Amino acid sequence: MAVREVLLMGHPVLQQRALPVEDIDTLHIQEILVDMRDTMAELDGAGLAAPQIGISLRIIMFGIAHNPRYPEVEPIAETVLINPEIDVLDDRMEEGWEGCLSIPGMRGNVPRHSKIRYRGYSVNGERIDRTVDGFHARVVQHEYDHLEGILYPQRMIDMSDFGFEQALLKRSDENVATLDS
Ligand code: NI
Repeated sequence: MAVREVLLMGHPVLQQRALPVEDIDTLHIQEILVDMRDTMAELDGAGLAAPQIGISLRIIMFGIAHNPRYPEVEPIAETVLINPEIDVLDDRMEEGWEGCLSIPGMRGNVPRHSKIRYRGYSVNGERIDRTVDGFHARVVQHEYDHLEGILYPQRMIDMSDFGFEQALLKRSDENVATLDS
């Protein structure tokens, strides 16, 4: 068990496409999953992708318990998704505030597809297949992007909506409070 250092924006591992996991049932993969869970819990993140701890493999995890600091955020069951795939079910984009453990202290308003279907494998190698929308769909798209070497500022259209959370909180037009992932 170990809390790992999270790589910061600009690190080359965060900019490369991660490789598929060939065999889930190995000690190596199980150890990565434990470290990812420990790291995400320690930093109070809503999600984490393996490249963020320096491992360029297609593994993401996410989950949100009900949090009194963010009462409007829907809980998401803790999920490990290995070799994920995403299908867009609704071409409409929705804007929403995001933060990333690799870009600490900052927030950006990011357009994401409002409804997606995602598939992949669980820790035990079982097939996962879910159709989701809202914040759940947002978090999965954010994590999936990490596997493609993309960070959320690269998805933004209006860079005046990118800044430090402390400063953005002074704006009266938006509630920028959100969880890092
Ligand atoms: Ni992130």
